[in-house]
Amino acid sequence: MLQMKDQVDIVLNDINKLPPMSNVVIKVMTMVQDPAVSIHDLAMEISRDPAITASILKLSNSAYYRASKPIRTVQEALMTLGIKVVKEIIILTASKVILNKDLRGYQLDAEAMWLHSLVVAELSAKIAHSKKLNVSKDLVFTAGLLHDLGKVILAQFFPQVLFKIKTELKTSKESFTVVEKKYFGYDHQEVGMKTLKMWNFPDELTEVVGHHHDPENAKNFPLLTSIVHIANTIAIISGVGIDIGGISHDLSEFALNITGVTDKDIEEYYLTIPELEKSISELQSI
Ligand SMILES: [Fe+2]
Ligand SMILES: [Fe+2]
Repeated sequence: MLQMKDQVDIVLNDINKLPPMSNVVIKVMTMVQDPAVSIHDLAMEISRDPAITASILKLSNSAYYRASKPIRTVQEALMTLGIKVVKEIIILTASKVILNKDLRGYQLDAEAMWLHSLVVAELSAKIAHSKKLNVSKDLVFTAGLLHDLGKVILAQFFPQVLFKIKTELKTSKESFTVVEKKYFGYDHQEVGMKTLKMWNFPDELTEVVGHHHDPENAKNFPLLTSIVHIANTIAIISGVGIDIGGISHDLSEFALNITGVTDKDIEEYYLTIPELEKSISELQSI
């Protein structure tokens, strides 16, 4: 019988075995990270996928964005809402396509997973902004949304193994990622990273996804990774998106140093979570 790690490798090394992903979504997610991207090119690419176009238009017309008039095309969205907002809408729509799965083994339904992802994304952007950190808003937001992608893959293919992990975690003193690695040969960080590499996502995103629980090991983008690490930890401590790993998440000293985030900042971020959850509740139903 194949070792568990070999079975995970089979999934990760064959793009056809990974959850089917629209080429348009993959391309657009990369394009949107480029500050110099031409809006014309972006609109052209999006128009190749009618389902994505429909989702983008639906969100553009939602109460959340309060458009002044009905939006019927991506071009109209750009003219009415502006490039910045439409970029955010595109990122949200594409990420939802990627993440919209029940994580049975992790005991998180699709809705809870999406809320957790949204809160981590918004909080990551907030940390970057409030500490005036030199990172792209689109990148940090996207990284926050996608950080737990590996869970989607593992839960989809190996839910029965996750039930074993859950039982072990009840008595184990080891961290969640260590136990994942023991059973799968990989933790959800590595699985997410390998998936994004397979889809040719930008290096910044693969590194954040690959090290959001150990930002000190992020070699090329430690600042970006540290921001998402802090946002994720605060979200978990606040009870947003707790899964079988529970609330046992350590806040990395390295991440605090590199971002300059203080205890007082953490307290402030923590207190904004209920408000954040309220403001994004409309985004949840997209
Ligand atoms: Fe995680
Ligand atoms: Fe997370």
